[in-house]
Amino acid sequence: MYLKPSLGYVRRVDALPQRVLAVGDLMVELCFVVSNAWSTEPDIPVFDQRISCGGSAANFSACLAQLDQPVRLLSQVGSDDFGNYLLEDLANYRVPLADITRLSGPSSVTAIIIGSDGDRRFLSYRSPAEVDYSTFDPASVLSDCGWLHISGFVFQRADSATFARQLVEVAHDMGITVSIDPSPLFAEYVTTDPALLPLVDYLFPNEYEARALTGLDDPVAAARELHARGVGTAIVTIGPGGCVLVGGQGTNLQLATPAVSNVVDSTGAGDAFAAGFIAAIQAGQMPEAAATLGMHVAASVIAQIGGHCGAPSRQQLLASHPELAPILARLAQSTTATEGA
Ligand SMILES: Nc1ncnc2c1ncn2[C@@H]1O[C@H](COP(=O)(O)OP(=O)(O)OP(=O)(O)O)[C@@H](O)[C@H]1O
Ligand SMILES: [Mg+2]
Repeated sequence: MYLKPSLGYVRRVDALPQRVLAVGDLMVELCFVVSNAWSTEPDIPVFDQRISCGGSAANFSACLAQLDQPVRLLSQVGSDDFGNYLLEDLANYRVPLADITRLSGPSSVTAIIIGSDGDRRFLSYRSPAEVDYSTFDPASVLSDCGWLHISGFVFQRADSATFARQLVEVAHDMGITVSIDPSPLFAEYVTTDPALLPLVDYLFPNEYEARALTGLDDPVAAARELHARGVGTAIVTIGPGGCVLVGGQGTNLQLATPAVSNVVDSTGAGDAFAAGFIAAIQAGQMPEAAATLGMHVAASVIAQIGGHCGAPSRQQLLASHPELAPILARLAQSTTATEGA
């Protein structure tokens, strides 16, 4: 059964495939553990170091893949050795490589300075090489997906922002669920394009991003404001303070995180949260259960250095948190039901 398309695309109202299309950044993380991430000393001792694979969309995709949820990652790497390293890492996490473009030039790299409390600061080199987005047809890119998830960094450059905007519009028109995890500068893009927000079903700002988007310090007020501006459900994550959800059908929740005793690197917490949340919503769970799963996936990721190194499998979550059994069982059922979709 089809509904009238408003952009000339066919809107599917039969069961959409469960596959998520993630669009966004993929980069090498050079992680340095120090006592104070904000120290201005000229020579700072480093107690531990790791080279790992990160980037918001890559972290998100790795977490979804570890939960056995079908995902595609539309991203890019450079032609250097770091590019090989990033591709190997994604393959290890079972993220398909078919939508990763190999560009000539260096890969993106971030130095992450991590304090003993898990707080961190970034020095980011975002590779200037860009995919030629004119070769992509948005409807074809989305053809086997039921959910589009975009990392806000895509909106920071003109070409990728134009492509992302088209993807959102076409996805919305095709009946595909749209979510965005904003970057700190996403707020600037939204001031030029406020009509984007009503096309977004789920928005996942952290506290800082929620403030930048709304000018409001209080995460509850910011979530309400984003929902009032057209976002389907606004989910503001508050680091150790949990999360706030405001959305349709009276959704108005404030949830505390599960106890996390060993926070070593909070990088990727929001990406992991979004992966767990979306997996549960796709499995038909209510927002509260979805946020609970999101917070548990985040808790695993922040217990290890690297943006997705601790990405948990369903079995690992079940072993450490038996109370998640009903949610995880629904995930297993929904993936089996849509396998091959
Ligand atoms: N220190 C912490 N202790 C417990 N839970 C945490 C902590 N930091 C993050 N979390 C969990 O992760 C979720 C997302 O965290 P946060 O708001 O820091 O995301 P973020 O800033 O978007 O992270 P990133 O951009 O690095 O992915 C929180 O809602 C919470 O469940
Ligand atoms: Mg984030």
